[in-house]
Amino acid sequence: MAFKIISAAEAASLVKHGDNIGLSGFTPAGTPKAVTPEIAKIAEEEHAKGNPFQIGVFTGASTGDSCDGILSRVKAIRYRAPYTTNADFRKAVNNGEIAYNDIHLSQMAQEIRYGFMGKVNLAILEACEVTPDGKVYLTAAGGIAPTIARLADKVVIELNAAHSKNMMGMHDVYEPLDPPYRKAIPIFKPSDRIGVPYVQVDPAKIVGIVEVNKPDEARSFAAPDPVTDQIGQNVADFLAADMRRGIIPSTFLPLQSGVGNIANAVLGALGRDKTIPPFEMFTEVLQDAVVGLIRQGRVKFGSTCSLTVTNECLQGIYDDMDFFRDKLVLRQSEISNNPELVRRLGVISINTAIEADIYGNVNSTHIGGTKMMNGIGGSGDFTRGAYISIFTCPSVAKEGKISAIVPMVAHVDHSEHSVNIIVTEQGVADLRGKSPLERAKTIIENCAHPDYKNLLWDYLKISSKGQTNHCLRAVFGMHDTLAQKGDMRLTQWSDYLK
Ligand code: COA
Repeated sequence: MAFKIISAAEAASLVKHGDNIGLSGFTPAGTPKAVTPEIAKIAEEEHAKGNPFQIGVFTGASTGDSCDGILSRVKAIRYRAPYTTNADFRKAVNNGEIAYNDIHLSQMAQEIRYGFMGKVNLAILEACEVTPDGKVYLTAAGGIAPTIARLADKVVIELNAAHSKNMMGMHDVYEPLDPPYRKAIPIFKPSDRIGVPYVQVDPAKIVGIVEVNKPDEARSFAAPDPVTDQIGQNVADFLAADMRRGIIPSTFLPLQSGVGNIANAVLGALGRDKTIPPFEMFTEVLQDAVVGLIRQGRVKFGSTCSLTVTNECLQGIYDDMDFFRDKLVLRQSEISNNPELVRRLGVISINTAIEADIYGNVNSTHIGGTKMMNGIGGSGDFTRGAYISIFTCPSVAKEGKISAIVPMVAHVDHSEHSVNIIVTEQGVADLRGKSPLERAKTIIENCAHPDYKNLLWDYLKISSKGQTNHCLRAVFGMHDTLAQKGDMRLTQWSDYLK
């Protein structure tokens, strides 16, 4: 081994108060797991001595508890971008303790390059192999690895034996030039490869290798329930019908699908619908359901930023790499989510909403308009450029006390101009080619829960007429009633018009 073997604690000692660290990985997949808990110990020691110790954390997307959880619990994070899913991190953000910059995932690497976020002092890359000349073979995700490795002052490699060396060759690493020199990204189908299978790091910057044997901190999925199953079926039926009508070509189009149980249910239903031909994925996260569909021949190819699968599923891929080698490629987030490519390939995007309004604006990030849930993730990267953009969600939350369909969303992530289809377990609202009022009618009729339909129809009746009808005094009446009385069903429009 050309590089010094160092302990995780030694690697952590390189990090000083005020530094920014950049991590490989995208979701817990491929994220380093040994050095960040040691940074947390330093923070605790320094805080006990009365000294400040806080850092900035740059990642591809969410991480595992060994990063966002441990570091936020010891108050060691000053700044963090982009997406996260950790409950303790969320609590700290909503208490105002962390400066959280929730940007589109495709923009993360370039915004670091453009200098929007400051310097990268230390990059930590998880690898399954590293060569003496600095070729780093990543594990289960592409993330922002080449950018942080190139820009960082120092690089630490977590060489993780829990990941198989069979991953070598699965990545396609390509870092675009910045404007005004950027060229077209030459990907014309999901399986095109345009780069090299490793991250080239200047060997002089590699300060050491930390030997690790820790599996990804993968999340498990809840068992499917009738609501998510029905949403999945509604999406599959809608897409099959659009194909029969000739709107989607008979070859079908590449799909992007978000993370979580609804995404798994949607993929399951698409896999079962044999009127839809075997299809490709051009996506940022690939979940267990897709791996099953690749094995069944229902998914022909998957282009992804990460294998966000259970550890059991990942081991299955490693064991069967001869089968998967020509059916998968892992890319960095700025390529997997690139709007230029999404638009060119005609990707059909399927993401989850927290709430949608009657005109088609979607809130993916904020509960009640103020509290951060996770972040926008890649949903905006795909939605804006999609051939057809779909949002799914159950029609109600919290045992029916909250309607996911409201007069106006309390926070906008995806505007009415970008959202084509809304799907709940109640049905499908096709917003394409419709005016705001036509959209409102189809969303209320097809997607709202029966408990809320009359309330929403009545909202239209009390609204002032215009291109987009609203009653500004009542527009957040359902949210306000939830805050006051704990149940949106108790909303009385007359109270708002007194
Ligand atoms: N008001 C208040 N709470 C709501 C709500 C609403 N309108 N809708 C959902 N919730 C609550 C749920 O009750 C649940 O609460 P709990 O954690 O206490 O059980 C929580 O929000 C999550 O809802 P759930 O139905 O379990 O959703 P999910 O796990 O499918 O996540 C998102 C939904 C929107 C949070 C998630 O998809 C996300 O983070 N999306 C943004 C990023 C993205 O789209 N990435 C795309 C590519 S991966």
